[in-house]
Amino acid sequence: MVFRIGPLGVCCLILFLRAATAQDLPGDPFLGREIAESWCGECHVTLPDGIDMLAGPPAFQALADDPAITEIALRAFLQTPHDEMPDVMPTPAQTDHLIAYILSLKGR
Ligand code: HEC
Repeated sequence: MVFRIGPLGVCCLILFLRAATAQDLPGDPFLGREIAESWCGECHVTLPDGIDMLAGPPAFQALADDPAITEIALRAFLQTPHDEMPDVMPTPAQTDHLIAYILSLKGR
């Protein structure tokens, strides 16, 4: 059977994705900012409007400005071990807070 999403389905999907913006996230952006500063700040520029270091990991502002960076993308990234970030394995709650913080930088 071919699975088809009609125009109405596309519309609902867009509404759903739009609804999934910062305000509806489970995490607390203020806690996320504290975690980011103390934990991620060693390698990333974590504050809003932070200037990207010349070489190195992206500033969180740059992440937020990237349309590819969504809640789902961040969650997937933070819940898989990475060679470059070996000790970074936030708990589910910390992940929620970090995502809320990073996405709160969108559009700044
Ligand atoms: C030991 C240094 C280090 C620490 C600490 C660190 N990172 Fe990273 N991070 C990197 C490097 C290097 C990259 C770029 C390489 C890559 O994309 O895998 C990166 C990339 C990323 C990316 C980009 C993924 C993408 O698709 O472009 C995200 C998101 C991220 N880090 C989040 C975090 C968060 C959140 C924390 C704190 C909980 C953190 N990092 C702590 C080094 C670090």
